[in-house]
Amino acid sequence: MSEAFVHPTAVVDDGASIGDDTRIWHFSHVMAGAVIGERCSLGQNVFVGDSVRIGNGVKIQNNVSVYEGVILEDHVFCGPSMVFTNVLTPRSAFPRNTSADYAATLVKRGASIGANATIVCGVTLGENAFVAAGAVVTRDVAPYAVVAGVPARRIGWMSAYGDMLTFDEQGRAVDSQGHVYERIDDDTVRRIQ
Ligand SMILES: CC(C)(COP(=O)(O)OP(=O)(O)OC[C@H]1O[C@@H](n2cnc3c(N)ncnc32)[C@H](O)[C@@H]1OP(=O)(O)O)[C@@H](O)C(=O)NCCC(=O)NCCS
Repeated sequence: MSEAFVHPTAVVDDGASIGDDTRIWHFSHVMAGAVIGERCSLGQNVFVGDSVRIGNGVKIQNNVSVYEGVILEDHVFCGPSMVFTNVLTPRSAFPRNTSADYAATLVKRGASIGANATIVCGVTLGENAFVAAGAVVTRDVAPYAVVAGVPARRIGWMSAYGDMLTFDEQGRAVDSQGHVYERIDDDTVRRIQ
């Protein structure tokens, strides 16, 4: 493992913590209280706010702002120009800019967010959930669920590896890696093998 790489055009404020083998590319800005894990990649023009927590192996593509109130667990993928939010009813004349005003957004391990999607604050994306390009997420997303559209609705299920899952009559599905998934009910899928 080697120390984090920070491109000369990026700004990392004193006090930010950045794990080994993490790379921070052109024109990005990491604020003082942020904690970023190991082996992450932050593309061009990425902003990471104060007190944001980012796990290990997280990939954040170009033009993404991770605002205070957002938590990204390990191996989360944020597609280019996707948008997080942290205030539900912003008003310029009545600023809501303290941590007490922020609605938390939790993106759990292995979840992916497609290009240009928007996550309205206060939701949880379950483990390995997948948000399609351009979706607007307004509700929690179940683990392994694929959601698309505005507002986002579930259109299917995807394995941790990234294969769409087709369930047989017994409610079982096998992905290209031989991993087996079970559909417990309409809203619940889990990996069993
Ligand atoms: C969601 C996604 C994984 C589905 O891929 P897929 O399994 O190949 O799906 P298909 O293209 O067969 O589409 C299945 C259906 O979902 C619809 N659909 C697919 N992507 C959609 C999207 N982003 N928004 C709305 N609907 C979408 C299709 O129109 C199709 O509908 P239909 O059956 O009525 O024709 C993919 O379209 C996607 O959005 N990937 C994200 C890509 C991205 O942002 N990458 C970032 C890094 S470069």
